[in-house]
Amino acid sequence: MNEQEILKTELRWSAIVAGAIGVIVVVIVISSAAMVLHPPSNIEPIDPTSLHREGEFVEANLGSIENPDGSITVRIVATQFAFLPRCVPVPVNRRVVFRFATPDVIHGLLISGTNVNTMVVPGYVSQVNTVFPEPGDRFVPCHEYCGIGHGGMWSIVRVVSEEEWQPDSNGRMTCEFPH
Ligand code: CUA
Repeated sequence: MNEQEILKTELRWSAIVAGAIGVIVVVIVISSAAMVLHPPSNIEPIDPTSLHREGEFVEANLGSIENPDGSITVRIVATQFAFLPRCVPVPVNRRVVFRFATPDVIHGLLISGTNVNTMVVPGYVSQVNTVFPEPGDRFVPCHEYCGIGHGGMWSIVRVVSEEEWQPDSNGRMTCEFPH
C-alpha cells in the first residue's frame, strides 16, 4: 500500500465513525425531546441513618399531601422490603412530585404506565414529577435487587378522580393496599 491508499482508508473509517456518532446524537436528541426521557437530575443529600427519626421522612409525614398551589407531594420511604406507605392516592391531572429516600440499601422503582423510573440511593433524595391523565391503580415494583425480599417489594399509586380526591384538613389522604 502506498501512502495515498492508507490515507483513503483512514478517511473512510473516519467517515464511518463520524456517521455512527451522528446517529447516536440524533437518537439522544429525539428520545429526550420527543419521548421525554431524561436522566434523574435532582441531587439532594440526606442522612440515611436518621431519616426515620427527624426531618421530612418521619412516618407521620409520609404519603400524599396537597400543597397550597393545588399540586401534590408524595413522600415514600423505600426499605427492605416495602415501600412506606404501600398505597398512595393522587388526583388525576395535577402536578405530582414524588420524593423517595431509603435508610438501608439501593432500591429502584418505576410507576407502570408512566415514564417515572428512578433509583433510590442511601444518602440522597430521589425526586420525580409527573401528571396522571387517567384514574386507576398503577403498579410500583422495586426493580433494583435489594435482598431476599426484593420480589415482594411493590406498592400502588391509586389515581383517583377530582371528586374522589378528598384530603383531610391537613391536606392528607391515604388508601388501602390491596390484599
Ligand atoms: Cu427494594 Cu428490590
